[in-house]
Amino acid sequence: MQLSPLQSRLAASVIASCFVIVLYLFLFAPQFAFAAELAQTPSTLEQAGSFYDDDDTTEFLDVQVPSYEPNFSLFDRSIIGRVADGAVPLDLDSPTTSNLDPGMTIAYVFEVASISGRSAQEADTTHELHISSNETPEFKRTNDLVRRQTPSRTLYVSVNTCDQPGRISPDQTSMDPPQLTLFVSTSSENTLPGPGRDEKTQNAIVFNEGAVLYNISLDSDVYFSISAPQVSAKYFTTTLPYNYEVAVSLNGYHHSYDSETQPNLYWVDSDASSSLLTTQNLTSRPEEVVPSAPYTVFVQDKKNLAINGIRKSYCGLKKWAQIRPLQNGDSQATTGLRRGGDDNLTTQEFYISGLNASTDYSGIIALNTSLSLGKRQESSSGGGMVVYNAVDFSTKPSECLQVGVLGQIILTILSDGACTFVFNLTVCTETRYAVPGNPEKFPNGTALAAFYDDYTRTMWDNFDKVLQQTPCEAPPTQKYSLVRDCDDCKQAYKNWLCSVAIPRCEDFSTPDQDYLQMRNINAPFPNGTFVDQSIRDKYGGNKAFNSSRNVEIDEAIEPGPYKEVLPCDYLCYELIKSCPASMGFACPLPNSKYGFDTSYAVPDTSKELSCNYPGSAYYPSAATSIAISWMSMVALIVVPLLLG
Ligand SMILES: *[C@@H]1O[C@H](CO)[C@@H](O)[C@H](O)[C@H]1NC(C)=O
Ligand SMILES: *[C@@H]1O[C@H](CO)[C@@H](O)[C@H](O)[C@H]1NC(C)=O
Ligand SMILES: *[C@@H]1O[C@H](CO)[C@@H](O)[C@H](O)[C@H]1NC(C)=O
Ligand SMILES: *[C@@H]1O[C@H](CO)[C@@H](O)[C@H](O)[C@H]1NC(C)=O
Ligand SMILES: *[C@@H]1O[C@H](CO)[C@@H](O)[C@H](O)[C@H]1NC(C)=O
Ligand SMILES: *[C@@H]1O[C@H](CO)[C@@H](O)[C@H](O)[C@H]1NC(C)=O
Repeated sequence: MQLSPLQSRLAASVIASCFVIVLYLFLFAPQFAFAAELAQTPSTLEQAGSFYDDDDTTEFLDVQVPSYEPNFSLFDRSIIGRVADGAVPLDLDSPTTSNLDPGMTIAYVFEVASISGRSAQEADTTHELHISSNETPEFKRTNDLVRRQTPSRTLYVSVNTCDQPGRISPDQTSMDPPQLTLFVSTSSENTLPGPGRDEKTQNAIVFNEGAVLYNISLDSDVYFSISAPQVSAKYFTTTLPYNYEVAVSLNGYHHSYDSETQPNLYWVDSDASSSLLTTQNLTSRPEEVVPSAPYTVFVQDKKNLAINGIRKSYCGLKKWAQIRPLQNGDSQATTGLRRGGDDNLTTQEFYISGLNASTDYSGIIALNTSLSLGKRQESSSGGGMVVYNAVDFSTKPSECLQVGVLGQIILTILSDGACTFVFNLTVCTETRYAVPGNPEKFPNGTALAAFYDDYTRTMWDNFDKVLQQTPCEAPPTQKYSLVRDCDDCKQAYKNWLCSVAIPRCEDFSTPDQDYLQMRNINAPFPNGTFVDQSIRDKYGGNKAFNSSRNVEIDEAIEPGPYKEVLPCDYLCYELIKSCPASMGFACPLPNSKYGFDTSYAVPDTSKELSCNYPGSAYYPSAATSIAISWMSMVALIVVPLLLG
């Protein structure tokens, strides 16, 4: 580092004063001289402060606090070196795991003396750098007062339950194993807090779903204990101990959870055996790079009780969730960062495979705060794991397929139902949802995706040829519109094409909704049965019901009956608004009831999913910001249309 002349002079004077201090400390009683000496040093450094802002000064003050504590018990303790009998001393930022039998208690102590040495050291190195120059003598005096009065630092205690006694029979009881309890005391009268101790001298906090967070100002030694309740041998295997991980830190909780905010996890779509979940953008600008995927996902069948009682515990989920990252790096959940959407921002996606059909699942994400971007990591939490609330999703039904007859035995296999999840298309890069499929003709999503990809590519290429004949690059007077250009038209066409040519599919058994349109109802299901006769009598003659939107789908795929999530109406309005009139696009208007209702759906902010658009997912209805912008856009588009 190059030093400016001013800085060199400063450095020289700093070294000189340090030398004087060291000599002084060496010659005289160190502990008592120390406090007096530091208060004097600033006068030799009057010039230095202008380089440093107030935050640094504050930090300096914080660091000083322990050595200014007029608390001599600390001093005594270091002489006696005594730890409360039976209590385990804990080090900062080094998580410790331990087994704990039901009915037992393990006590810990965090000694304030264990940080004073370290803080004094920090102070020695930091006071040279962080002293403010514009301290007038008066200000210095108040600063001394502040130093003496500032409450000491905060100790953050966090514990996660990793194991708990197992149920004897999952069906026998819905009772969850009882939670551990954290007892905390700062009283020298109660150095072994726990059940049965004087309640006036201790705090008892029962764990919440396998996690507890506790912060306390570090004025004196902190005694705490973790206590396991007795458990009923009738319901639980009492031979299995509890196991937990405990950590103390001055920088924030090592383990924490967030039950308040909406987790950054959204269900995109599922088929009978897989699901795609995604976060929203992790960055706000396309240039920002996310170094590595910050979230971990855990998935649990909602009927499986294995993670009950430890849903907020990272180590508990890591050990017990049905789908979790495995030791060997494998998982049924593959995750990756993806750039996409209108703004080309980074999101993290989770593709979960090997799921059971027609099953409700919970997805829980945990954030490694040291891997995430932005302010979060600098704030109170000191680079630990945050566990969020669960997000629900479900899989679609599967089909029972008859694959052959062996003597008297009919061979059947369970296969994905009518709807198969596809992703990784080349034209419709945002298309990642279940589409009409046929497990016999297209046994896997890759083959089916290739069909839809080829088909949309053909339509896209044709459109591109037509667009090249319209005057895009012409001077403004000859352009078809002053506000829209060919790029707008291309984007609008792609959004529309991908939503219309690749139907978003729901199983035929899904309850009817405004935005769901029955398709192909005269065809047999893969198991050979037909749609209810009453439905076929009523709608069987209507083309919107008895075929797919595109004949190619019925001819090449033969999907059987399904329901289509209709594309959002604004995709069509946006298309005719953005492309030259000469291209001849038209949209059915909402008042021409028939064609409209079977072709498009109006976005509905009160539903998680109310129509299909590129990037559609089950967004909680409260998160209406996107939906609101649709609504205003629709209003802007529809009015001129109606007038025109
Ligand atoms: C510290 O604990 C108090 C309650 O005891 C809580 O209100 C506060 O939010 C906690 N602080 C942090 C940073 O968690
Ligand atoms: C996501 O993008 C929006 C709009 O660009 C932005 O306001 C928001 O801050 C972004 N989220 C994050 C986590 O960067
Ligand atoms: C699927 O169901 C089987 C049998 O009920 C069960 O053993 C398995 O754990 C389930 N898997 C998932 C991921 O739900
Ligand atoms: C996506 O498709 C490309 C080729 O088009 C292929 O190389 C890549 O492996 C595919 N990705 C996934 C996740 O299937
Ligand atoms: C998908 O099915 C095609 C045949 O349609 C087959 O050639 C291919 O190997 C299958 N891919 C996988 C991953 O099973
Ligand atoms: C055949 O499949 C349809 C649609 O999945 C289902 O509703 C029906 O119950 C099945 N019938 C039989 C006999 O399995």
